[in-house]
Amino acid sequence: MNPDFTSAEYAAQLVLSRTSLRPHIALVLGSGLGGFADSLTDAAHIPYADIPSFPRSTAIGHAGRMVIGKAGNVAVAAMQGRVHLYEGYSAQEVAFPVRVFRRMGIRAVILTNAAGGINLNYSQGALVLIRDHINLQGQNPLVGPNDDRCGVRFPDMTQAYAKPYREMAREEAGKLGMTLHEGVYAGLLGPSYETPAEIEYLRRIGADLVGMSTVAEVIAARHMGMKVLAISCVTNMAAGILDQSLSHDEVMETGERVKTTFEALLRAVLPRVSQDVAQQPT
Ligand code: HPA
Repeated sequence: MNPDFTSAEYAAQLVLSRTSLRPHIALVLGSGLGGFADSLTDAAHIPYADIPSFPRSTAIGHAGRMVIGKAGNVAVAAMQGRVHLYEGYSAQEVAFPVRVFRRMGIRAVILTNAAGGINLNYSQGALVLIRDHINLQGQNPLVGPNDDRCGVRFPDMTQAYAKPYREMAREEAGKLGMTLHEGVYAGLLGPSYETPAEIEYLRRIGADLVGMSTVAEVIAARHMGMKVLAISCVTNMAAGILDQSLSHDEVMETGERVKTTFEALLRAVLPRVSQDVAQQPT
């Protein structure tokens, strides 16, 4: 049996001991997008270092703490910063926070990330709903013995990104007058950015976006039957599309620039997801 279940249970108990809120929705906030957690009210801040077995992020732009608080009337558990495979963590470690969320009673996860835009209809700063992913990370958090208490050995991934949640997000974006694209996310290991040839390959296999996160977390979430909504911010056009090189500074700057719009969308979507979760069996 996988040791994650017991460790996650233990970690969940620690987290819940720090707050009286009992959120049913988790947010995983990507590079440059962690600011949303600062706006939560009645917030408890729990450094990852305080949570047993929790991986600590080393990436610049990731604060490394869990913030449990309220966005309006909706209680959420937000990860301000996540860990990545390229930091040297295993896929199981990357997915561990999602395991903890499930043990905390959370049933829906909203993930955000920074991504390179491959689809030529996108431009820097565009927001894109992830419709599906292509796992090119060469790893999977479910490798190893399956823990039947978490989920089945061979989980279905046909509806990995819940269609009803995508519809809600599109509707809310429309009300806010925002453009929200939809696309397929290719998850790569990193940490080097892709070559122009790799981007051309990714385009041909059907990817609209490329990034170095999200996939392992989504697989673990689906394994445990959690519903997923994921939104990418196109922080840069992918390698070779524009006649310029890529830099992490650019990624962070774009994150900062779209922050207000991104946060408005999250704020609008949360009550809708909350309503859906309340109708689900536990
Ligand atoms: N490639 C991979 N990951 C990324 C990119 C990119 O161009 N931009 C932000 N994250």
